[in-house]
Amino acid sequence: MDNLLKKLYEKNKVSEDELLYILDNMNESYKEKLFTYAHETSKRYYDNRIYMRGLIEFSNHCKQDCMYCGIRASNKVAHRYRLTHDQILQCCEIGYNLGYRTFVLQSGEDFYYDTEKLCTIIKDIKSKYADAAITMSIGERDYDTYKALYEAGADRYLLRHEAASENLYNRFHPGMKLSNRIECLNNLKEIGFQVGAGFMVGLPYQTNEDLVEDLLFLKKLNPHMIGIGPYLPHKDTPLKDENSGTLEKTLIMLALTRLLIPDCLLPSTTAVGTIDNKGREKALQAGANVVMPNLSPTNVRELYSLYDNKICTGDEAAHCRVCIQKRIESVGFEVDMGRGDSVRL
Ligand code: SAM
Ligand code: FES
Repeated sequence: MDNLLKKLYEKNKVSEDELLYILDNMNESYKEKLFTYAHETSKRYYDNRIYMRGLIEFSNHCKQDCMYCGIRASNKVAHRYRLTHDQILQCCEIGYNLGYRTFVLQSGEDFYYDTEKLCTIIKDIKSKYADAAITMSIGERDYDTYKALYEAGADRYLLRHEAASENLYNRFHPGMKLSNRIECLNNLKEIGFQVGAGFMVGLPYQTNEDLVEDLLFLKKLNPHMIGIGPYLPHKDTPLKDENSGTLEKTLIMLALTRLLIPDCLLPSTTAVGTIDNKGREKALQAGANVVMPNLSPTNVRELYSLYDNKICTGDEAAHCRVCIQKRIESVGFEVDMGRGDSVRL
């Protein structure tokens, strides 16, 4: 195991069997070594800097029905909301004044925001805040829409692949196809976006073999950003009685991802902060280098409910900004409020 971890650290590559061996045989002392290697690697590419992104959850309407997700279309008790163009711009103004230079616009798959509305929002943000980057995370759209968003000024796009194993993917995504999701990711790349993929850790029935598939898929796709968080149940979904993913396994997957795709931007997610009060700090120590504090208006935070007990739902943007900075500094990192583009560019 020592040799395998060293090889991963030095060459950023191991075989499928070796990855499986690592996952199957992890223990406390190997974990410590893995996290140290991951931390060293993130320092090599990004120094001690942690990038901040302001997250704006602008709609919880969704036409898809992912079994795990609290805003799935079949959840009839969810209270739905949409932020207006002006409300989204106000969130950006608050964020910009707090120092943010990346805005992440995320929603369910909500086609109320058609290409024209989205492009207007993007252009208006860019005309006011030219030095800020815009990341879109609005799910699957066609090539022409992605192209229009890019031409309007969007810089990045997050679309987790969710599960690279087709069996697992099909179990949780009625009416959706993994091949379509992959085509979307390829389209986004071809258009010129900095692209983010990623997956959940601890989905019911997920095996180490499935997780190896996720890692190999990411290695091949080589995205600029990778979102990984634990699966957490939501009370109004069919998976409500399933167990959450664990912090431990999530940290292992973050660290392995850092070693396999060493220059990626890797968020310490809200979900990892939700399973453990110190989860976000621990994720940074395992190779993550991005945090995405919330800029959504507090009256809608609770409604953007993907899973139960989400943190920060009552906290103003300014409070989160200070809180997260303290957390980052408490484990020896520095906050970087710049755009934080991929070092690959
Ligand atoms: N609709 C867009 C999309 O499909 O990419 C963006 C919003 S979607 C709700 C954002 C991410 O939340 C998903 O990619 C998924 O991985 C994550 N998510 C949804 N339900 C979750 C749950 N119960 N636990 C943890 N993460 C969850
Ligand atoms: Fe929101 Fe700590 S990040 S309160």
